[in-house]
Amino acid sequence: MSPRALVFDAYGTLYDVHVVAQRCDEFWPGRGTELSKLWRAKQLEYTWQRSLMRRYVPFSQVTREALAYACEALSLPLDEAKAGTLMQEYLELAVYPDVPHAQARFKVKQAILSNGSPDMLDPLVRHSGLKFDAVLSVDEVKIFKPAPEIYQLAVDRLGVAKKDIGFVSSNCWDALGARSFGFT
Ligand code: 2OP
Repeated sequence: MSPRALVFDAYGTLYDVHVVAQRCDEFWPGRGTELSKLWRAKQLEYTWQRSLMRRYVPFSQVTREALAYACEALSLPLDEAKAGTLMQEYLELAVYPDVPHAQARFKVKQAILSNGSPDMLDPLVRHSGLKFDAVLSVDEVKIFKPAPEIYQLAVDRLGVAKKDIGFVSSNCWDALGARSFGFT
């Protein structure tokens, strides 16, 4: 396949969400990995629940609520200062080391299509220095992936037919959603 455009998922695909484990470990020694995993799992679960219930709120709120859940479930006391620091980490996530090289190999339009709301996504992309033709957020449509209308957003904005779009995600559920929609 020679894609005419590549569309990337952000969290977990380009940006490593589990770098937050280090900061979690500073706050709660030895518990960082466990907390980071539960935080991420709950964050995703909340997006699916909210989409089904048609109760969209921005991903920043979902992420903050998932953090509160994860800390309570693991009996880790969370105050506003700690929550603020951890939410800030999400704006400065590390880029996986193979991303710049992989991006450079493809001379086609490249975009991000993410659940991230602009208040999270824009500072993250800016901080990372990665360049894209478009940074698309589900916030425009107010439902989360894998709703098909989200993948349609990329088709509309890039002006490329869905069969000519290569979708890249490390999140299996997202890759399946994209495939079901008609991306490669
Ligand atoms: C995304 O960036 C949540 O990883 C997912 O859309």
